[in-house]
Amino acid sequence: MPQSERTSYPAPVRWIHWVSALCVLLVIPFGFIMMRLPSGPGQDQLFDLHRSIGFLILCLAVVRVATRILLGAPPPVPGMPRWQHVVSNAVHHSLYVLIFLMPLLGWGASSAFGAKVSVFGLFTLPDLVAKDEALSHTLGDAHSVLGYVMTALVLMHIGAALMHAVKGDGVISRMIPALGRR
Ligand code: HEM
Ligand code: HEM
Repeated sequence: MPQSERTSYPAPVRWIHWVSALCVLLVIPFGFIMMRLPSGPGQDQLFDLHRSIGFLILCLAVVRVATRILLGAPPPVPGMPRWQHVVSNAVHHSLYVLIFLMPLLGWGASSAFGAKVSVFGLFTLPDLVAKDEALSHTLGDAHSVLGYVMTALVLMHIGAALMHAVKGDGVISRMIPALGRR
């Protein structure tokens, strides 16, 4: 189908969006909770799960960007105010950057701390950087600050999606075609 006639994202782009969204909606609360748990096996398990899901997000991000470039997107929603277009583009681009940057910072912080990153107990990632306590703090702090920024952007994104769902202006059906345009 020519891109100009599309009304929704191609199926692979939609699927990766939803699987990746689910992972992000798990990894963020896991991150905040694990940091506030007392040290012990419970905290260690949540750290492992957080790191594993975070690494999965990085892998999905690579496939996602390739799929998005190869398969494209529907044309902009007609009649949408220019400011909404600019803001949504900025939020989407920032989220794309963060699904790469956050896992890399977390992985770097873990390696610099001297922690091995086991992915769902299946295999262990190579160290991204050598052990270095100061670097581990710097990368960990950057990861934490951007974790708050990403949480705010995700909440904005979901808020905007809900607003469009209430308006029934056809934006939601671009990611969930079954909902159609009301
Ligand atoms: C319940 C949660 C979510 C809902 C309802 C939702 C809904 C949507 C919708 C309707 C679009 C299409 C917007 C348009 O065509 O203008 C979209 C695009 C997008 N969403 Fe989500 N989303 C959710 C979660 C997430 C999360 C957690 C992320 C984090 C990475 C994310 C990242 C993106 C990106 C980057 C796009 C732009 C796609 C592109 O144009 O390439 N979404 N989302
Ligand atoms: C998109 C993916 C990711 C997101 C959104 C994310 C988000 C977060 C959040 C919200 C926190 C808690 C911050 C705080 O309370 O100060 C956190 C902490 C942490 N995450 Fe992630 N994370 C991701 C991926 C990863 C990965 C792949 C790893 C490791 C392989 C990782 C390792 C860590 C570590 C080590 C901390 C503790 C940082 C510190 O000591 O300050 N994260 N993450």
